[in-house]
Amino acid sequence: MRQAVVFDLDGTLTQSEEGIFNSIRYVAERMGYPVPDAEELRKFIGPPLHYSFVNFMGMNDTQAVEAVRVYRERYVTTGLFENRVYPGIRRLLRTLKANDVFVAVATGKPQSPSERILEHFGLSHFIDRVVGPDMDTKDADKEKLIRKALPEHYDHACMVGDRKFDIEGAKRAGIGSVGVGYGYGSREELEQAGCNIYAETVEDLIQVLCAGMPVPRGQFLSMEGLDGSGKSTQLTMLKDHLSRYGYELVESREPGGCPISEKIRTLILSRENAEMTAQTEALLYAASRAQHVHDVILPAVRDGKLMICDRFLDSSVAYQGGGRGLGVEEVVAMNTYAVGTLRPDVTVFLDLPHEVALSRRMHATTPDRMEIAGEAFHARVEDAYHAMISREPERFVVVDASGDVQTIAKTVAERVIERLKEME
Ligand code: TYD
Repeated sequence: MRQAVVFDLDGTLTQSEEGIFNSIRYVAERMGYPVPDAEELRKFIGPPLHYSFVNFMGMNDTQAVEAVRVYRERYVTTGLFENRVYPGIRRLLRTLKANDVFVAVATGKPQSPSERILEHFGLSHFIDRVVGPDMDTKDADKEKLIRKALPEHYDHACMVGDRKFDIEGAKRAGIGSVGVGYGYGSREELEQAGCNIYAETVEDLIQVLCAGMPVPRGQFLSMEGLDGSGKSTQLTMLKDHLSRYGYELVESREPGGCPISEKIRTLILSRENAEMTAQTEALLYAASRAQHVHDVILPAVRDGKLMICDRFLDSSVAYQGGGRGLGVEEVVAMNTYAVGTLRPDVTVFLDLPHEVALSRRMHATTPDRMEIAGEAFHARVEDAYHAMISREPERFVVVDASGDVQTIAKTVAERVIERLKEME
């Protein structure tokens, strides 16, 4: 049985107020109207723009046509990307696609910017058809858009939207509808318009649309680098970026990441344990990892989330295998006992010569037991990372970490998103 789902865009797939509000403010300022407050601005999301300028800003027809032109001036260059995918939507679309559901978008926003948004946020490959009015249509009739979005043959179809226009359009197009409460309309508005089902959250929507469907496996990303490579800063910036794209992140770190492993972390890194042997150290890292994989990493991946981990097994290979001189094969072997063959899908390596990393670390607060190891140790760690990268170039995203923070962050985000998309 072929199922088809047609989604509205703004307020249903993406939380788009930032770009829309900024562009309306721009129109008001440019055309000499009072700048609407937040509550007034919210009304603009959903209805056709021309309708909103007439009804909410008191314009006549000619003024509204000009307002739409001015709005687009800003929106198509900047506003379009001041946007974020609702958490969970990515998982929803992935699940529908993996289960052979026909997925379309029918939006009142013109077709070309809508396609650009979906492309920018890496959602296009989940969507079979995108339908929006062309740039010079004054009003976007949702019924027509929905009819155009539907496939030729289907057994069951529904429209998902956050405003009455979506629900009324679906009714006229002869299909069912789900009203969503996390967007820009109210429950009252959606129920009065006659939605068949009301879903308060994205999670509720997933329950409605994906009941009984297996969830595709999530992804596992790790971040590696020498101490002082700027890993923590870059990780924070990457997480911010990925959440905008609708990735549901589960964050963690090694050693640590769950209560038992955090206790092991304290043991390993404490400067009181100066006499700890390299073997003990390596086994403790592996032990902490075994618990962490069991408690955190595997459940996250199984639930379709994006597991993002500050260091993983590669750190053991580099620090204990290379730095402490235990040997790569030995360290891999003890970790295979701990975690089997589990490896990250993508590993970001922040590449910085150990001398530079060392001089950055000098400014840091109290260094831990690993950080006080000598320069020769960190030189061996660096070499071990590079050897790993040559063995598995397809897993690593190697980024030069010597430049400015923003440029590095942009490169990391672009390359990671590209990789994640390829795997979806
Ligand atoms: P990290 O938490 O990255 O340190 P910080 O947040 O202080 O920068 O890592 C702690 C130290 O543990 C770091 O020096 C690298 C080392 N380490 C290993 O030697 N082996 C391992 O398997 C892991 C995960 C970390």
